[in-house]
Amino acid sequence: MKRLTVGLGDRSYAIHVGEGILNGLGREASALNLPRRVVVVTNTVVAPLYLEQVQSSLQGAGFAVESIVVQDGEAFKNAATLDQIYTALLEKRCDRKTTIVALGGGVIGDMAGYAAATYLRGVPFIQVPTTVLSQVDSSVGGKTAINHPLGKNMIGAFYQPRLVLIDVATLDTLDARNFSAGIAEVIKYGVIADAAFFDWLEERAEGLKALDHQTLIETVLRCCAIKADIVAQDETEQSVRAFLNYGHTFGHAIEQLSGYGTVLHGEAVAVGMTVAAQLSHQMSLCTAADVERIVRLIQRCGLSTLIPDFSLDAYLNAMMRDKKVADGALRVVLNHGIGQCDVYTLTQPRELFAAALQACRTV
Ligand code: NAD
Ligand code: GLY
Repeated sequence: MKRLTVGLGDRSYAIHVGEGILNGLGREASALNLPRRVVVVTNTVVAPLYLEQVQSSLQGAGFAVESIVVQDGEAFKNAATLDQIYTALLEKRCDRKTTIVALGGGVIGDMAGYAAATYLRGVPFIQVPTTVLSQVDSSVGGKTAINHPLGKNMIGAFYQPRLVLIDVATLDTLDARNFSAGIAEVIKYGVIADAAFFDWLEERAEGLKALDHQTLIETVLRCCAIKADIVAQDETEQSVRAFLNYGHTFGHAIEQLSGYGTVLHGEAVAVGMTVAAQLSHQMSLCTAADVERIVRLIQRCGLSTLIPDFSLDAYLNAMMRDKKVADGALRVVLNHGIGQCDVYTLTQPRELFAAALQACRTV
């Protein structure tokens, strides 16, 4: 098992990454002296796969364990499901000496994390991510949220977990579509922060779907190390943390316009990254060859780069609700070549996006 740390002073926490380590959850949680009562929040797809294993690991370490199983999918990452979680916690008479464990993908992690942040003004929580996307990204860094019909992740809090336990063996049961969607966030790290990692991914693109556990561990560690470093510098997204939003401004607009769950988050980010790369090229921040490399890698990893057919006005309207909007101006993350990026305020977003979408549609 490998270990990384998210360095946030007295709120620092470990990320454990390994193969077949789910059984060690009870031991790791025990070592943190967490409250002995645990509620595992998961969904109807993940519960039959991993809930029993997680429960018996925690029980074996002396925890009293209960569970809350909600409906599956992005369409249920909303106020109604969150309310079900609060109701179940209240019905179980959970007090402040209760730890919430999020077992599942990013939807469960974000929603259970927000429940933990707000229930009784905050109870400890642990992330046990079981998708590529949640293992490389969403379980680390403490962003928790639910969606609103008018915008993605609009209601939320920064609330750090006490532990992240990543067992790559859980990815064996993940379907190909969700596997590829998670790879979009992996590619993101290469584009924004690590040119050598991008090269490494290019060498393996087609093979990524059949990755052995060891290569998955390496991939997860690289992504989590980049994210942990960024979060330690800027926990609440005042500066560099915004880089992690590369491709997300347009991606979130796709998710919201299509109806949550229709286009998966990672799929939307993949399209958003092609648009961001085009914008970067238009602003002379990268070459046409860089755009070509980014688009090719996304496609080779089994992701579509087709832009869903909504009007420019609909996209601009949705993007104006992005959390990076400041003083009414749209701000986007653009890549400098491959391996670096920065945040830019767009003074003429309509013209820039019109040209970028046109260019993307002809790639
Ligand atoms: P998801 O949570 O919906 O999981 C995808 C599907 O895989 C679901 O049907 C889920 O039940 C199923 N699943 C989960 N683990 C499985 C396993 N081991 N085997 C079989 N099936 C499994 O989606 P996701 O892609 O994991 O996460 C997307 C969400 O993450 C979005 O809501 C996005 O906004 C959020 N996100 C948050 C952050 C953050 O920093 N907090 C970062 C990126 C994305
Ligand atoms: N996924 C974006 C962030 O954690 O900041």
